[in-house]
Amino acid sequence: MEDLPRQVRICQNTSCRKLGSAKVLAAFQALPVEGVEILATRCLGQCGNGPMVLVLPDAIWYGGVHPDEVPAVVTKHLQGGTPVKGMLYST
Ligand code: FES
Repeated sequence: MEDLPRQVRICQNTSCRKLGSAKVLAAFQALPVEGVEILATRCLGQCGNGPMVLVLPDAIWYGGVHPDEVPAVVTKHLQGGTPVKGMLYST
């Protein structure tokens, strides 16, 4: 069976952009992880709680993400396999 693609989707729609999602996207792009795709997406349906980040295929959400928090997501979650508890968002 083929593995599902690993992706980080970062909302770049109006509400998240006002909250700084462009810088969050840039922070992920600055720390590439092999085999993980970084994608700018349209609204993820959680406006007002952004910047919203969705990690697939784990279906783990992060809300109110600050660019300074991105390295923790990269090292602990994307590389280490453990989501960053203090940043989790439930839909
Ligand atoms: S604008 Fe980002 S979740 Fe809607």
